Amino acid sequence: MTSDQVLLGVNIDHSATLRQARYRGMDRTTGGMVEPDPVLIALLCEKAGADGITVHLREDRRHIQERDVRRLRESITTRLNLEMASTSEMIRLALEIKPDAVCLVPENREEISTEGGLDVVALSSKVGDVVAAMNESGIETSLFIDPDPKQIEKAALLKAPWIELHTGSFANTSGNEREREFERLNQMAALGASLGLTINAGHGINYVNISEIMRIPHLHELNIGHSIISRALLFGIDEAVREMKAKILSATPI
Ligand code: PXP
Repeated sequence: MTSDQVLLGVNIDHSATLRQARYRGMDRTTGGMVEPDPVLIALLCEKAGADGITVHLREDRRHIQERDVRRLRESITTRLNLEMASTSEMIRLALEIKPDAVCLVPENREEISTEGGLDVVALSSKVGDVVAAMNESGIETSLFIDPDPKQIEKAALLKAPWIELHTGSFANTSGNEREREFERLNQMAALGASLGLTINAGHGINYVNISEIMRIPHLHELNIGHSIISRALLFGIDEAVREMKAKILSATPI
């Protein structure tokens, strides 16, 4: 693998969504007929070429459970990226479980999935404290933010090593607005890189828009969930991950 290959982090939250749809409220998260097991899914993703596994442990535990995160930490051999809100409970858990990276996201109980970027300008004191605590314990912090210059400049000031640009506005629009969003992502990736930030991107990336996403400069890693898990229902997780990985590799400049 060359260092300039864009990496694929597979977000496996929705494999746990499926399990919880049937087994919510049960003490166990595995065993017997409790299925599917997100850890097995993660291992298959790695076997198919995923460079990392991402999970979001939400406050309401609607999909991934704490035990899943602990089992993933013990099982996977690529990188574990834990998406989380900046709450004291999550900070304590992250410092104890020690994922390779945490991605700070906003969390709103009503949303179906993470809807907007974290407002690191408004929350700078809290976010700065989390970044400092993670930096100190060797966990890389990524800030999931909108492609907005104020957010990116603040992320750099807070000494977050990584940002994840929210690609949802681009993925969910069409026509001229889509072009504007794409241009915004390009410019903001360049701004972030010029400030020394590592640039990741995620939300709403799928098998169709991946070719455009791959034209954004300076990308380090893409975090993709819903589209891969959906394709896995049709073709299996191995095929779903391999296909996305192939699309990323074929679009990576040599
Ligand atoms: N990145 C972050 C920070 C997310 O919260 C999510 C899930 O909403 C994703 C990436 C993956 O998004 P999707 O499931 O749309 O691929």
